[in-house]
Amino acid sequence: MIKEVIKKNLLLNILYRLFNEFKTYIKIINGNFTYNTGQRNSEGEIEKSIAYVEKLINWYNQVVPLEDNFLNDKKVLEIGPGDSFSIAMRFLQLGAKEVTCIDKFYCNRDISFEKKLYLEIEKKYDTSILENGIIPTSKLKYEFGKGIENSNKDNYYDFICSMAVLEHIYEIDKAIDSMDRMLKINGTMAHRIDLRDHGMFSEYNHPLTFLTINEFIYKSFSYHSNNPNRKLIDYYKEKFKDLGNYEYKILITRVKDRNLDIFKENIKFNIDYNKSDIDFLEEIIGDFIDKFKKLSEEELLITGIFLVAKKIK
Ligand SMILES: C[S@@+](CC[C@H](N)C(=O)[O-])C[C@H]1O[C@@H](n2cnc3c(N)ncnc32)[C@H](O)[C@@H]1O
Repeated sequence: MIKEVIKKNLLLNILYRLFNEFKTYIKIINGNFTYNTGQRNSEGEIEKSIAYVEKLINWYNQVVPLEDNFLNDKKVLEIGPGDSFSIAMRFLQLGAKEVTCIDKFYCNRDISFEKKLYLEIEKKYDTSILENGIIPTSKLKYEFGKGIENSNKDNYYDFICSMAVLEHIYEIDKAIDSMDRMLKINGTMAHRIDLRDHGMFSEYNHPLTFLTINEFIYKSFSYHSNNPNRKLIDYYKEKFKDLGNYEYKILITRVKDRNLDIFKENIKFNIDYNKSDIDFLEEIIGDFIDKFKKLSEEELLITGIFLVAKKIK
């Protein structure tokens, strides 16, 4: 009830987020990284968790041929696995040599449920990855307490990927530069990125309200605590163009509130969006901070992307 009142009022909502940011900062400097984030298995239903894993593998499959030996003998880095290593386990089943999972936080989890889930995945795909019911540390490494932006293991990985993670990293430039160093030449990155506000303000305001907030204030409540970094498709286009050592594609996975079953490189007027979307943008764009006013209508309407990039030099 109190939360609802706070969320309905933009100013109270920002104050509440500033308080949360402070709490998160204090936790982090005290070495406490346990956090409620990436909670995909909290319902404790094996079928739902398996369905979620399959959905993610299908998404990855649309951008890299996972099921076609793409991972054979490869060293993989998964950023931000959330509350289980089931994607890492699937990567191992699909031929990866080893998988490292790096997370800024230790996501709250149910360890006994996790074990059941791994056994179920082992059974479903008829593999023998598990040793004594767990994924052996020779194949799976888990590092938490340090974001990818502060990690380094130069020139080591063949495949670096993430699902709904990059948008949470405030220091995204630093994070991409760090991944670039960690990836071997001919290696590939694949990141699915959710560009929405993750319900921060959109529950009671229009979906682009977060683009109206001054950068200093926005950073003050987002730097440590996982809020979206407000980098939209234009940022990733520029960043990879500037890096200059990648062949890359940015596929669109969602427009406004609609997921695309088949990802595509371009969206079209009257197919993916229409006149009422343009009218809506015209109504609200005056309130955006300057850097978002400069974006095209399509850049503002695209709410999800998959970035796939091969390091060529
Ligand atoms: C929305 S969850 C996604 C979890 C999982 N990938 C999935 O698709 O279910 C975001 C994850 O990114 C992690 N994360 C946030 N900032 C990070 C950073 N700077 N470096 C690494 N992981 C980070 C969070 O702790 C969390 O596990």
